[in-house]
Amino acid sequence: MHKSETATLIIDGQTYELPVLRGTEDEVALDVSNLRSQAGVITFDPGYANTGACYSAISFVDGEKGILRYRGYPIEQLAKFSSFVETAMLLVFGELPSREEREAFRTMLGDQALLHEDLMHHFEGFPPHGHPMAILSAVINSLGAYHPDLLQIETVEEFRQAVAKLMSKVRTIAAFSYRKSMGRPIIYPDPSRSYCENFLHMMFTVPYKEHVPSPEAQKALDLFLLVHADHEQNCSCSTVRMVGSSEANLFASVSAGICALWGRLHGGANSAVVHMLQHIREGDFTVKDCIEKVKKKEFRLMGFGHRVYKNFDPRAKVLKECATELLNSLRINDRLLDIAQELEEIALKDEFFLSRRLYPNVDFYSGLILRALNIPVNMFPVMFAMGRMPGWIAHWHEQHMEESTRIHRPRQVYVGPNIRDYVLMKDR
Ligand code: CMC
Repeated sequence: MHKSETATLIIDGQTYELPVLRGTEDEVALDVSNLRSQAGVITFDPGYANTGACYSAISFVDGEKGILRYRGYPIEQLAKFSSFVETAMLLVFGELPSREEREAFRTMLGDQALLHEDLMHHFEGFPPHGHPMAILSAVINSLGAYHPDLLQIETVEEFRQAVAKLMSKVRTIAAFSYRKSMGRPIIYPDPSRSYCENFLHMMFTVPYKEHVPSPEAQKALDLFLLVHADHEQNCSCSTVRMVGSSEANLFASVSAGICALWGRLHGGANSAVVHMLQHIREGDFTVKDCIEKVKKKEFRLMGFGHRVYKNFDPRAKVLKECATELLNSLRINDRLLDIAQELEEIALKDEFFLSRRLYPNVDFYSGLILRALNIPVNMFPVMFAMGRMPGWIAHWHEQHMEESTRIHRPRQVYVGPNIRDYVLMKDR
């Protein structure tokens, strides 16, 4: 990072020098952190589209070129050669692990999968059709009550323990929330199974009928989780950092991230895509009608567009290929895949989408993979949360390790009434 350049800002004839910051990929930022104290003004940036809130060494996104890298490694290479657990270690601990390190961490994940028996009672308190995302965020936050020793993380070992607990238990809680919503008995985690196999086993085994997930299903789930593992300063990650900036503990911070992820413009988009495709399949409107309605701004084409990508989202390419392969290998003929491809083809030739640079994002094809794995639609954001867990943890930790972190506290431009006198009830 060079810190020698400055940019000049003139307000009311007064000149101010703003330091220019450059990242390792030559991204340029103007440092306005002292602007208010020097010039009495603030910057205005609703949605934070032009605001850099931190230095980060975790993920790099170039939205113009459609590039995503985790710790420098292209997402395409990780998707081809790595696994979710290994990629999570890369994000959280900073480097690809050796074989021994990876196996030791896998063992930790296996050992940490169980929930405290008292925590299990929480599931009984939720109503039968409680949304699994509400259950997930509540139970993840509750973990803080069961691990008071990890509310203040001071050492490397404490951090490793917290990472293993969160990454392992999120999978157990996700599966249990589904079982609860289906009125099925809970299947305990089995430490002898791999990360994805264990999850699918907990989801779909029923008494007297063990579910044995196919290698194709495990591979597709692993890839789904891997491509969701981090995406720099998105809404949920920024929420984790916002909450963490008050020195809130890791469990509380990631639980807040889960809540932020739930919205349809973020992690809720994958289920919105499937609903949209289902409407077309049911004949509520055709593919062409759908595009016309989007152009009239009656609704948005879900799974399209991105704040940062103004080109193909590289994750969408990986997942499209994965969805096609998975459906072929499981011999599933899902009409929704044909509809999605048709929508994509028309949209990518249409001026409305071209001029706004709207391309398929990670959510456009991911729901088709989850459907093929028999994961119900209300579990889709939960699956996203499982995948994003390492990213949230990595960002919380990066912030926690900084020498000087300030509490996140944006300013505003006040547009309410000027001072006025209180009106007594009898006079209103
Ligand atoms: N369909 C139709 N028009 C769109 C869409 C879309 N999906 N996305 C953006 N636009 C239009 C928007 O109407 C606006 O047009 P105009 O200039 O005429 O007013 C223009 O494109 C710019 O939109 P914006 O709202 O300023 O873009 P944004 O950067 O604030 O929003 C977004 C990004 C992802 C929320 C948005 O593209 C969107 O709503 N997409 C659909 C939901 C979705 O797929 N979300 C998943 C995002 S990727 C994974 C994740 O982050 O969780």
